[in-house]
Amino acid sequence: MVFPRLKWISADLLASVCHMKRAVCPGSFDPVTLGHLDIIERASAQFDEVVIAVLVNRTKSSMFTVQERMEMITKTTSHLPNIRVDSWSGLLVEYCKSNDIQSIVKGLRAVTDFDYELQMAQVNLQASGVETMFMATAPAHSFLSSSLVKELAHYGGDVSSMVPKIVNEALKARVAESGN
Ligand code: PNS
Repeated sequence: MVFPRLKWISADLLASVCHMKRAVCPGSFDPVTLGHLDIIERASAQFDEVVIAVLVNRTKSSMFTVQERMEMITKTTSHLPNIRVDSWSGLLVEYCKSNDIQSIVKGLRAVTDFDYELQMAQVNLQASGVETMFMATAPAHSFLSSSLVKELAHYGGDVSSMVPKIVNEALKARVAESGN
């Protein structure tokens, strides 16, 4: 027997665990927005497990630490049963390989996202065979980005319709701390 100590696991359950369809939603999430959450919710309905991976983007400086970003995502996705939140600072495809993840899920907001995302999807496919699935962002969120939210918040703009409540509060606190 392959798992002699696990006699109580039924063959069906074992088979379903072994063939779980797992996806990763990668991003900086600095901070998570309602646009991200829309994609995460819709991805969670399509896969057995979705890992939200907070990645370090070398080209961007961040407002929140990785830990803070993970906490905000954990709190705002607590209603979804099949979400796991993690962080990673290497290549995304390496993360996929070591976590048995077959698909990357990305939201496409507008045609301006397409060139870059297509290039990344092709590099990742060639490097590892991991597929990228694009989801069309809901029209209500097509203009939304973490950078825009931070810019608005920095100048005292109202971002309450763009981010979850706890993120809005964290943004106000961080702007007040920075004092400029
Ligand atoms: O939210 P972002 O900043 O647009 O997310 C971009 C991110 C972090 C998903 C992307 O930069 C990424 O995948 N970084 C990990 C390194 C990597 O695998 N790069 C792509 C192949 S060179």
